[in-house]
Amino acid sequence: MKITLSSLLAAFVFILAGCTSGSTVKIKDLRVEMKENPVGIGVSQPRFMWKISSGSPDLVQTSYQIQVADSPDKLKNGDDLLWDTGEIKSDASIQIPYEGSPLQSRKQYYWRVKSNTNQGTTNWSEVNTWSMALLNPSEWKATWIGENNLSNQGETYQGKSRLAARYLRKEFTADKPVQRAVLYISGLGSSESYINGKRVSEDIFAPGPSWYPNRVYYNVYDVTDLLSKDKNTIGIALGNGRYFGMRDMQKATLPSLLAQLEIEYTDGSQTTILSDTSWKVTSKGPIIANNEFDGEEYDARLELEGWNKNGFDDSKWLAADVMETPPGELTVQANPNLRIQEEIKPVNITERPDGKYIIDMGQNMVGWLAIDLKGKKDQPITMTFAEILKEDGSLYLDNLRTANVTDIYTPAKDGNFSWKPSFVYHGFRFVEISGLDYKPELAAFTGAVIYDEMKTTGKFETSNPLVNQIYKNAYWGIRGNYRGMPTDCPQRDERLGWLGDRVTGAYGEAFIFDNALLYNKWLQDIEDSQSPEGSISDVSPRYWTLYNDDVTWPAAYFYVANLLYRQFGDKSGIIRHYPSMKRWMEHMQQTAMKDYIIVKDTYGDWCMPPESQELIHSQDPARKTDGAILATTMYYSLLNMMSEFARLSGHENDIAAYQELAAKMKEAYNAKYFNPETAQYGNNTVTANMLSLRLGLVPNGYEEKVFTNIVKKTEVDFGGHVSTGVLGIQHLMRGLTEYGRVDMAWKIATNETYPSWGYMVKKGATTIWELWNGDTADPAMNSANHVMLLGDLIIWYYEDLAGIKCAQDAIAYKKLIMAPVFPEGLNSVSASYESVYGEIKSAWKKENGSFNWDITIPGNTSAIVRIPKEFGIKHANQPGVRKVSDTATYTEIEIGSGSYHF
Ligand code: BGC
Repeated sequence: MKITLSSLLAAFVFILAGCTSGSTVKIKDLRVEMKENPVGIGVSQPRFMWKISSGSPDLVQTSYQIQVADSPDKLKNGDDLLWDTGEIKSDASIQIPYEGSPLQSRKQYYWRVKSNTNQGTTNWSEVNTWSMALLNPSEWKATWIGENNLSNQGETYQGKSRLAARYLRKEFTADKPVQRAVLYISGLGSSESYINGKRVSEDIFAPGPSWYPNRVYYNVYDVTDLLSKDKNTIGIALGNGRYFGMRDMQKATLPSLLAQLEIEYTDGSQTTILSDTSWKVTSKGPIIANNEFDGEEYDARLELEGWNKNGFDDSKWLAADVMETPPGELTVQANPNLRIQEEIKPVNITERPDGKYIIDMGQNMVGWLAIDLKGKKDQPITMTFAEILKEDGSLYLDNLRTANVTDIYTPAKDGNFSWKPSFVYHGFRFVEISGLDYKPELAAFTGAVIYDEMKTTGKFETSNPLVNQIYKNAYWGIRGNYRGMPTDCPQRDERLGWLGDRVTGAYGEAFIFDNALLYNKWLQDIEDSQSPEGSISDVSPRYWTLYNDDVTWPAAYFYVANLLYRQFGDKSGIIRHYPSMKRWMEHMQQTAMKDYIIVKDTYGDWCMPPESQELIHSQDPARKTDGAILATTMYYSLLNMMSEFARLSGHENDIAAYQELAAKMKEAYNAKYFNPETAQYGNNTVTANMLSLRLGLVPNGYEEKVFTNIVKKTEVDFGGHVSTGVLGIQHLMRGLTEYGRVDMAWKIATNETYPSWGYMVKKGATTIWELWNGDTADPAMNSANHVMLLGDLIIWYYEDLAGIKCAQDAIAYKKLIMAPVFPEGLNSVSASYESVYGEIKSAWKKENGSFNWDITIPGNTSAIVRIPKEFGIKHANQPGVRKVSDTATYTEIEIGSGSYHF
């Protein structure tokens, strides 16, 4: 072999690169309360986390040190630290609570962290920061203001509510150089805030919806950069949101503003601008109506040019009214608001015989339509939104019930204009446009995809195009159903936080989206909506109060708290809500339990495929699962969860009672509903047998027999199709797989005939339907964008097909069990999930008789990888592999962090 200088050099560079990357341990992605450099933290012990990485495998943290100070200089010099942990011997790198000197309202803090690992010590991290909210209600000096009148024609709060937006403004002077300015604000129901004509943030519908009688959220914004020396103007537009509700209000809770702008000057002095009666208000601006169901009406002739800037003539505006203080506790909002998360362009436009146009976004989406059109003075342009077209090509609106879903823009002059609404959103694929006298270009329209600001954390792709399309439909459905709370649907006159839809779905969603803060907030909505007797409202926040005292919907409270802990390591929900959960558990025992069976149930196995394609709900007793079976099995699972919650929240004394009751229930349940001869529960539905099996009620030794009934029922009575509604589907895919029938799970996952997710796709769905028979059923309850029928499908995609699964005895993917299943016909899966420790990747492929699998797991984690023996494992001994062992069926490889190829 000839050695050249360049090859020598290349080898040298290679070695050098290997050395540096191999020996450098990096620390990154610092988070406080799961946010990056957050503004306005409301808890006294914020929790910290970080990620570590290196170029070498098997990186483990051995100790860490955190420092906190109230200035970056103090932090760097180590002076006056508020908290210095010193070296803490621990591998913990997530959810570590602050334990330094008490933190103060408003103040800004700086922190850094250093990690020691088995591969060396990181440098100090970059300095990160956070600031505190107003921790004490008495620190609020501002007054709730607004216009306390329905002063425009046609305005009402009864029936379909109608109200114009309010515009509020105040000019003020900042006469010295500004060090820091922070705006604390609650603009109910929805607000857009400006300083000197510039948006304070891109947030939409701020603040988040809540059960206002108990809680009102406020947001905190650092607005230092928006202030000018001398004259300034703050302007807030107020829409109705969910505060001035869309339908049938008992009482007009008119939009109201609370704003406190705190300015610190560089000389240390301070001034505060408070909302009060010195502000001016008008409701005679361009947004003449806004209602989330019915749409926004914008009259450009009423535009208030420059209203949010200095020098605007507001002499015709009114002095702001003092509004009734909303009774709810003023609370800083921890979850992000909604934002535009993506913009898409329509794919098609057609002219209708009546001269209207219909544009097709190519995707059932949620958000709004921004337009750049040419109009005629006084000639309204109307946009009506729908998910589906009728056969004749016109909009299908029947499934939207009373929602008018229409935005109207009236031009002030002839010519071009651009517009988008502010306070409404729609669930739509098609938009009918009228009032134009020319055919617009596709480029004139932009679909703004709007939902809670959060990262997409998961990717999933397989060799099967249908599965990929179903995944895509799920992705669009899930993102379309976040509106500061998880909603049932985004289009008709409902859009509510229905609990039952998310019991298990929330877990699946948590693979695709970083939704931890949203779901944590929802737990609070559920608690705020609880009755004094302990009932949980099936809809929370309880814009519809439904104290049905069933188990299957309220179970979401528990399952979601559990999910947040297991997926993100966040147990704050469990700790905070334990007392309310316990209250509900007891309430149910007292009111709904008879001889250890929970007898109450409202919805049954909601939306199971009915016997006839036109029905919404099955009438066939043989298909329906006894409500007591649903309620009792679910309640039993909650007792087990509560035992764990009690341990985690320091209520160990409660555990024995939960366990005792669970044992009694199991006994009573089996005595009443289990037939040991046939191994059937109740009338032998898949749901009855599956819930009993998966939730642990089947007597020892009968599991396989019960499972055989599930298989038979599915094969014989339903031709290998799903037969469950919202309850059974939560366990179907995992249950079939766990007991050895991944082939059946795969068939159900890839069916194209009714009922199936594939059927929806074949019928043109780009989201997931509310009903298996969404193409033929009655429109009264037939949304094309519901997520509840996903059940455990997404969990199954990630955990079972991709093999990205947290070990039972670990939290938040500190340790994984990577044991994918390989259904016949599936040749490859490529998935990733950004966990709190970092990115996990799993990509396997079967090709020409060979099997290849690439895995990456993040620093400070480990995995047990299981590969069927018949695949003939290669490379089991690469660096980072800790142990290799064999069982009868698979090779088990324990790995530390890093990337591997098998
Ligand atoms: C909602 C559902 C909900 C159900 C319960 C429906 O109208 O859209 O998603 O769970 O009612 O009754």
